[in-house]
Amino acid sequence: MIHKKKITTLFSLAVFVLIGAAASLPQKNGRNLQVLPKDISDQMLDSIMQSYNKALSVSCNFCHSPAKAIFPVAPAAGSLDFALDNPMKETARRMMQLTIAINKTYFYFDTASRPEYLKVITCKTCHQGHPFPPEN
Ligand code: HEC
Ligand code: HEC
Repeated sequence: MIHKKKITTLFSLAVFVLIGAAASLPQKNGRNLQVLPKDISDQMLDSIMQSYNKALSVSCNFCHSPAKAIFPVAPAAGSLDFALDNPMKETARRMMQLTIAINKTYFYFDTASRPEYLKVITCKTCHQGHPFPPEN
């Protein structure tokens, strides 16, 4: 009897550990960088993403898809799967490449900085707070 109880306890513990692991997956392994440097710090990545929100006057979900359930855990309401790709994210990647290329080609004065982090031309230069840049 005692033995059976132990096994039940161990089994429940294992289930909890698995649920915990599944729940933390989207955050922990949430990188799929193809344009930004792969060794970028969390802080730098976050501040760049915040700058996109501001430049286009959008929220993170403009480019990032809703998180899917990872059985048996349903995602928290409104949570996003940042690593998942979608067409808007791909468009944004091309925009990032364009912006980096302009800075790297024409404004790479401070070679101590990485071209991906130059801010002479930014999303805001063209977008001015709109998803589609206004025609002047
Ligand atoms: C204009 C579109 C856009 C907006 C808005 C945006 N992101 Fe991103 N985000 C991207 C793109 C594109 C990538 C992938 C960059 C790459 O491939 O180097 C990315 C990558 C990420 C990643 C790493 C996952 C990955 O794909 O490598 C995280 C985390 C992330 N964004 C969080 C955020 C957060 C938090 C916000 C809101 C504060 C936000 N993003 C707003 C476009 C956007
Ligand atoms: C040189 C000017 C310029 C810069 C710099 C620029 N963009 Fe754009 N972007 C545009 C133009 C123009 C369009 C509209 C293209 C069209 O009409 O299809 C656009 C469209 C987009 C779209 C699609 C919007 C939609 O609703 O379909 C996204 C997303 C975007 N840009 C993100 C960015 C991000 C993020 C950056 C900075 C990394 C950036 N852009 C930098 C000019 C620019």
